[in-house]
Amino acid sequence: MPFSLKSTLLFAATAAAKIYYAGVAESGGEFGVYSSDAVNGTGLPGTFGVDYAFLNASTVNIWINQNHINTFRIAFLLERMCPREYGLGRRFNETYFGHFNDAVTAVTKAGAYAILDPHNYMRYNDPSQQPATGSVIGNTSDPAAATTLQFQHFWNELAGRYKNNKHVIFGIMNEPHDMPTSLVLHNDQAAINGIRNSGAKQLIIAPGNGYTGGHVWNTTSQGDAPSADYLYKLRDPINNTAIDIHEYLDTDFSGQHSVCNQSFPANMYGLTQWLKTYQLKAMVTEFGADNNTMCDQYLTEAVQYMNKNPEYIGWTAWAAGPIWGASSPCCTDQRALGSLEPGSLASDGSPGLYYTVWLKVIEKLVPKQLQKSGISSIHGGPCE
Ligand SMILES: *[C@@H]1O[C@H](CO)[C@@H](O)[C@H](O)[C@H]1NC(C)=O
Ligand SMILES: *[C@@H]1O[C@H](CO)[C@@H](O)[C@H](O)[C@H]1NC(C)=O
Ligand SMILES: *[C@@H]1O[C@H](CO)[C@@H](O)[C@H](O)[C@H]1NC(C)=O
Ligand SMILES: *[C@@H]1O[C@H](CO)[C@@H](O)[C@H](O)[C@H]1NC(C)=O
Ligand SMILES: *[C@@H]1O[C@H](CO)[C@@H](O)[C@H](O)[C@H]1NC(C)=O
Ligand SMILES: *[C@@H]1O[C@H](CO)[C@@H](O)[C@H](O)[C@H]1NC(C)=O
Ligand SMILES: *[C@@H]1O[C@H](CO)[C@@H](O)[C@H](O)[C@H]1NC(C)=O
Ligand SMILES: *[C@@H]1O[C@H](CO)[C@@H](O)[C@H](O)[C@H]1NC(C)=O
Repeated sequence: MPFSLKSTLLFAATAAAKIYYAGVAESGGEFGVYSSDAVNGTGLPGTFGVDYAFLNASTVNIWINQNHINTFRIAFLLERMCPREYGLGRRFNETYFGHFNDAVTAVTKAGAYAILDPHNYMRYNDPSQQPATGSVIGNTSDPAAATTLQFQHFWNELAGRYKNNKHVIFGIMNEPHDMPTSLVLHNDQAAINGIRNSGAKQLIIAPGNGYTGGHVWNTTSQGDAPSADYLYKLRDPINNTAIDIHEYLDTDFSGQHSVCNQSFPANMYGLTQWLKTYQLKAMVTEFGADNNTMCDQYLTEAVQYMNKNPEYIGWTAWAAGPIWGASSPCCTDQRALGSLEPGSLASDGSPGLYYTVWLKVIEKLVPKQLQKSGISSIHGGPCE
């Protein structure tokens, strides 16, 4: 290879390292449906502001102005957006959609980007013990299951409502798991088709199987085929789809323990090689760790890894949200140490994870330049 070409390629590889989207997951719109004895229908439709809430609009400005992020991932529940009486599809509960839309527009009017996150594990109809309960979307052996076509119609409707809002990002689905990987691909493709058929051109992020874990990307997870064997087959007519990854740093990657021993760079290596092979980009929309010295180090390595590898275009940490109280979304062995919500406190009144993890560790690693305007894209857009 001529020297000039080689050096051009090297330059291109290093110059391309760029995070365009950085921020926080806002959890809460999916709350209030858990039932310890799996009573189907618990918390549906639920009461806004009591059982569930999307985000506190006044924290959006705190996040943008004081914490310098530009991306919020907003979780919602499919059984609330599309009540089971209607079925999954184009018909929404407009009251629930209205509350969700208030949250999305609070973010996008402030100039930031909003990831729409159906938090349903590729399941629909029984969220009472998610991620376990509910019929897998597109399971043709299950008469109660919503079909892949219904899922396409749902996305066609939702994307159509946002096709003129350039600051939206479509997150196809939170954490598919325990299903054929071919069906994850099939449903993801249907969602992409539905979104593009609506005329929407914004960034789409598509999950794999195994809770879309980075560390299992190219290995078998729960006996299902590796995501790596299927997900490169996704086709987006305008090539604006990235891969959506979740990756925790604790002992079993669950985000439930306070001990960190999983090296993000080591565990993401296979995924990163795969992304390079297929010239794909990824966004890590869930990661997190406890407030201890060991985790601080693993978390720092994780964010630095995303910031310096050009295959990664964005990240959101798990999680903020207005109704966590002292409960913790991540990594504390069930101890109530608070959340990433600004002002969050632990149950003993000491500083919550917003202070002890976000401000102490993650905030320092937020890239100085993030996308400021223009349509969400795998190629980013104007920064300052
Ligand atoms: C919203 O956030 C602001 C700023 O942190 C806080 O003062 C207020 O109490 C919050 N409201 C709710 C309902 O959580
Ligand atoms: C739609 O949502 C509202 C607000 O939660 C609720 O009162 C209503 O019952 C819901 N409708 C259906 C059909 O679920
Ligand atoms: C839960 O209820 C939904 C809607 O009524 C139904 O489709 C589904 O089969 C039920 N799930 C179970 C496990 O009974
Ligand atoms: C699909 O449905 C059948 C029949 O209910 C069930 O046995 C099978 O486990 C389901 N598959 C998945 C991936 O859930
Ligand atoms: C999308 O990418 C494929 C494969 O690289 C290429 O053939 C196609 O022309 C691209 N389409 C657009 C609209 O850029
Ligand atoms: C992390 O800890 C778990 C549980 O103790 C253990 O199974 C696993 O092998 C450890 N992993 C590493 C990379 O040390
Ligand atoms: C996954 O990727 C890693 C790193 O490239 C490699 O060592 C491993 O063999 C791969 N596994 C599979 C199943 O492809
Ligand atoms: C961090 O976590 C520990 C428990 O591991 C807790 O005792 C401590 O108070 C927390 N808060 C701060 C500010 O370190």
